[in-house]
Amino acid sequence: MKLDKNEWNDLDRYFRVFESITRRFMGKLEHDKVAKLDVSLAVKNLPVAGLSLLDTVDHLRTNVIPQLSAARGSRYWGFVTGGATPVSTLGDWLVSTFDQNVAKEGDSVASEIEWQTIGWLCELFDLPQTFRGIMTTGATAANFLGACVARQYAGNQQGIDVAKDGVYGLDVEIFSTTPHASMVKSLGMSGLGQRHITRVCPLDNSEAMDVTHLRELLEKSDKRSKIVIASAGTVTATDFDDLVTISELCKEHNAWLHVDGAFGLFERLISGVNGKTKGIELADSITVDCHKWLNVPYDSGVFLTRHLDLLEDSFDVPAPYLVNTGNQPSFMSIGVENSRRFRAFPVWLSLLAYGKNGVKRWIESNIEHAKKLADWIDQSNDYELVHPCRMNIVLFRPNCSGLSSAAADKLTANRMLAINKDGRVFLSPGEWQGDKIIRAALSNWQTDQSDIEIAIQVLKDLARQ
Ligand SMILES: Cc1ncc(COP(=O)(O)O)c(C=O)c1O
Repeated sequence: MKLDKNEWNDLDRYFRVFESITRRFMGKLEHDKVAKLDVSLAVKNLPVAGLSLLDTVDHLRTNVIPQLSAARGSRYWGFVTGGATPVSTLGDWLVSTFDQNVAKEGDSVASEIEWQTIGWLCELFDLPQTFRGIMTTGATAANFLGACVARQYAGNQQGIDVAKDGVYGLDVEIFSTTPHASMVKSLGMSGLGQRHITRVCPLDNSEAMDVTHLRELLEKSDKRSKIVIASAGTVTATDFDDLVTISELCKEHNAWLHVDGAFGLFERLISGVNGKTKGIELADSITVDCHKWLNVPYDSGVFLTRHLDLLEDSFDVPAPYLVNTGNQPSFMSIGVENSRRFRAFPVWLSLLAYGKNGVKRWIESNIEHAKKLADWIDQSNDYELVHPCRMNIVLFRPNCSGLSSAAADKLTANRMLAINKDGRVFLSPGEWQGDKIIRAALSNWQTDQSDIEIAIQVLKDLARQ
């Protein structure tokens, strides 16, 4: 296809294609298989001449779209997957229309919108406005910023500017109980080291931190700096660390406290500031993910910190052509990327359109429906609920009574594969206290009673087979 400067004069051509693909894709979500397990690409080599628009679209329709998952649909319960709402989807479409580079202020209102989005998220979660931050590509990237700024803090305590001089000679100990895999990855990427974690024991039958053990470890530590990584909602058991006690211990030991609340922070809309997340407002930094429970399209994490100056010290590299003339730090000086997508926009638009109450409604509904699924599993002879459902994640496996651990794991893995092959629902695997399990994580705004009934039917059908 040849590109013509006046191509946009025929905008309607693109709208027609867009509309027909979108309508077809959205229309099939409900009935199509949720996941496509056997996929392949039809075009193998780089096209040299390129295709016409018609042929490009035809190729998409025939070869690509039928192989896409219904990740945005109401029965994709793998990982922790939100489905984009209509308004957030509209926002994301418009991000490409606007194509702003939110690196620094000075040429549009986009930076103001990102700052306002951060402020609105703090209001949504009842966090003090002393938290500032930046939109990231996801929770992994936010955890990476957490590792970097904690590293900078540790360096400051020891007279080392880590951003400038590196981690050489840094004397630091990191404490955590059940860090998400992305946090471990972030410690590796930041030079602190994936293996450099002192494991704090969990409480019995829980993934939450035993704070008595943390106290002992902090008292015993002879390192000059300390970092504690806590969880507000672990990815398997949805456990919450005791953040009030942990923050007190951190204060006592001048330790940095980073809390990964990728999806758990949304629970604050349900039980409030004195509920499961109590004390998170005392953290030095927090990770949250909007492409999980805020149900915006992917590429939407958030990093919040009470120490924006340290974040800027970690990421700012002056260059004459990038000089900042505004009153706020440039986003490129407080995060990884220089050029940045206008990723705050779908979040901002969602908050504008749905408000706090709208978000709260789908969080409540997901929790209610997860409990319904868990109750059915708990009463079924064919399945075992392996952990009580306390939020939006259901942990279960087929009834394994009388089986060896290896046989139970095999049955569980096979059943999970069979569920995903069946295609009416998509789940992901997990592990609970050494045993393989199946996880159903409900975080999609559309999931309702009819989806629970379909999932129960799938579980019944497969147990019968
Ligand atoms: C607690 C927690 N932290 C971090 C992540 C990583 O999020 P992302 O995939 O958006 O990078 C997840 C993903 O499930 C999570 O549950």
